[in-house]
Amino acid sequence: MSTINDVRMLEFKEHGDERGYLVVVEGERDLPFKIQRLFYIYGSDSKVVRGQHANRNSEFVLINVAGTSKIKIKDGLGNEIIFCLNRPHTGVYLPAMVWKDMYDFSEDAVLLCIASEHYDENEYIRDYDTFVREVTKQGER
Ligand code: TYD
Repeated sequence: MSTINDVRMLEFKEHGDERGYLVVVEGERDLPFKIQRLFYIYGSDSKVVRGQHANRNSEFVLINVAGTSKIKIKDGLGNEIIFCLNRPHTGVYLPAMVWKDMYDFSEDAVLLCIASEHYDENEYIRDYDTFVREVTKQGER
């Protein structure tokens, strides 16, 4: 079972020359999973909190390809970590079953989210108390 200790920053190689930069992210090579889906978030501002859910199965890597945002990750057992996503060649890896809040978006923020699973609303836990109950139950097994 993965834990909040598996959350980590990933650094991707910047291929830079006089024309600018190019960053490559390959599934199973630069990320610890096969890519099944990606989506991106923009037009959020500093007052908005997105996420506010956990996923039973999906793992993610989040990259601010433009602008900046913050992500707070909680394990439901009292531990939390905050990352500032502010460079287009770094991402944060999130295992399944962690609670995430994304906030403090800069006006120009484009947050790219790469996922290990196709979309399935049934694997989303959108109620924090339910998340804590499921995490606690998992720990007792
Ligand atoms: P939501 O989970 O609320 O976004 P966030 O994680 O940023 O808070 O998703 C917003 C809407 O988009 C919601 O109606 C569900 C839909 N959606 C999809 O259809 N497919 C997806 O892969 C995702 C992530 C969301």
